[in-house]
Amino acid sequence: MTNITSKITSIGSYLPEKILTNIDLEKIIDTTDEWIQTRTGIKQRHIAENQLTSDLGYLAAKNALEKSDLQSQDIDAIIVATTTPDRTFPSTATIIQDKLNIKNAFAFDVQAVCSGFVYALDIANNFIKSGQYQNILVIGAENLSKILDWNDRNTCVLFGDGAGAVILSKSNDESGILYSCLYSDGAFGDILQTDGGVASTQNAGAIQMVGKEVFKHAVEKMTGSIIESLEKANLTIDDVDYVISHQANIRILKSVAKKLSLKDGQAIIAVDKHANTSAASIPLALDDYLQNNEIKKGDIVVMNALGAGLTWGSVVVRW
Ligand code: ACO
Repeated sequence: MTNITSKITSIGSYLPEKILTNIDLEKIIDTTDEWIQTRTGIKQRHIAENQLTSDLGYLAAKNALEKSDLQSQDIDAIIVATTTPDRTFPSTATIIQDKLNIKNAFAFDVQAVCSGFVYALDIANNFIKSGQYQNILVIGAENLSKILDWNDRNTCVLFGDGAGAVILSKSNDESGILYSCLYSDGAFGDILQTDGGVASTQNAGAIQMVGKEVFKHAVEKMTGSIIESLEKANLTIDDVDYVISHQANIRILKSVAKKLSLKDGQAIIAVDKHANTSAASIPLALDDYLQNNEIKKGDIVVMNALGAGLTWGSVVVRW
């Protein structure tokens, strides 16, 4: 067993310039601002125009590096969580590596859909705990607008584009990841999927979802994984200062907060501004929160997500 821990030392993000509001969507499909806001809490989403996922991820990573004390050559690895890669291969992570001009690192993508950032963070944490690596860029970057059926009002109103990045570094104090847990259950693969893929249709396909089923699993599994990860970290919900969940839907976030008896302001919310940006949503919400607020050193922060697969997981951090 090693005593090495890892901590988040910098956070960056990038949102594409174009904003598509619910009112804009009313002009394209049969929907209303009122329906979208009541059911989801979403007011607007950013849409990437002429920008690839690697462009979004690169700009978020550059932002995180600029805010840190590190140079790009200090980075040992780049892990990109994405379900919307630029190309089938090479990985979006190696494309971002080249854009950052990082030579002495290895890079790869993680595909766990909306849980991708939590998965990537846990992988990076274990690389650092191994003692072999010091600083890892963990990026969540998505171009979900490219895999939406813009005629399907059930899904196209829910998602947006963007990227967030953190630098996870070997900890030199008490701060760091205390415990993380990951899960998946492929038996629920059909309730949230694309109707295409390289081997089946030779194209990416579009998102399809059984919304009510996903909602039920999200509330149950996100709540369960938060409780379990806290227990494993020898903490209780009373020790928690902030919960940063994957930003899919305000009703999911409120249901989880209610089940955990969180106080107002403990569950960080950005879904109104960003919509569901899949693997990018947690670092985007975190960076958005930190623009105007502070998370104090020593605070306990839980990050958690559920996504297609189904995949889910939770990471407990002492800030
Ligand atoms: N505008 C207007 N009406 C709509 C829209 C829309 N954009 N979308 C669906 N409707 C209609 C439906 O056609 C249906 O009409 P009908 O009764 O005449 O058939 C009616 O609204 C109700 O539809 P439901 O699907 O029953 O609505 P529900 O209350 O379940 O809300 C929603 C749908 C918001 C998708 C909900 O199921 C949900 O939040 N699910 C969670 C899924 C989620 O957030 N997924 C994101 C990806 S997964 C993840 O990241 C965790």
